[in-house]
Amino acid sequence: MTLPRFITFEGIDGSGKSTQARRFAQHLQAQGTGVVLTREPGGSPGAEDIRKLLLTGDPDRWSAETEILLFTAARRDHLEKTINPALAAGKTVVSDRFADSTRVYQGATRGDLRPMVDQLHALMIAREPDLTFVIDMDPVLALERGLARKSGEDRFEDFGLPFQETLRHGFLALAHANPNRCVLIDGNRTADQIASEIAAHA
Ligand code: ADP
Ligand code: TYD
Repeated sequence: MTLPRFITFEGIDGSGKSTQARRFAQHLQAQGTGVVLTREPGGSPGAEDIRKLLLTGDPDRWSAETEILLFTAARRDHLEKTINPALAAGKTVVSDRFADSTRVYQGATRGDLRPMVDQLHALMIAREPDLTFVIDMDPVLALERGLARKSGEDRFEDFGLPFQETLRHGFLALAHANPNRCVLIDGNRTADQIASEIAAHA
């Protein structure tokens, strides 16, 4: 990998994104690539503050519209303070979630808010990853894995299984609509098997 690149991991809660993003970043570093590993919501001090507002508390704490604004505000700060400076310094950025999560979580699950998500993205973010790994897996297994972590950030996991099924189909549709940058990964395997498939894309 010679050019600096922006690489994202997407998928439902508990699908193994964090595990694989970390392993892929380690793999790139071992090859001598400068890497910044980051995550959303969060990835910069201001965006981490917004993360706390978004992921804790009552599932009905925010309206759908307010939630889109908060995720977009966090992303804008993440882009300004972490992603763009790293890319400008010639580093590869690996992010655990990015704009595809808003397209699916906010755009596809709560009425038809996708046009609003897309307008805000065009206005405030206007950046796509060069490469996105979409980890697909059975939501029953993923939910068990995710809740077992007891992170205290379960506001979205608390919406339950039908919500996760809707998300899964949202991510699959998104991967099929963007074959130029999205690679679909079967997450129903061991972490080692998945990591070696992903490493082959480096
Ligand atoms: P995500 O970031 O998508 O929520 P994580 O990487 O945090 O997922 O994984 C959720 C949980 O499942 C963690 O406890 C992790 O150790 C475990 N895990 C990750 N990948 C696998 C895998 N392929 N098989 C079994 N358990 C896994
Ligand atoms: P994350 O910490 O990646 O959760 P997990 O490890 O369980 O996958 O993300 C936190 C939650 O925020 C997750 O449930 C997905 C949600 N989310 C959105 O709804 N919209 C977004 O734009 C982003 C980035 C995350």
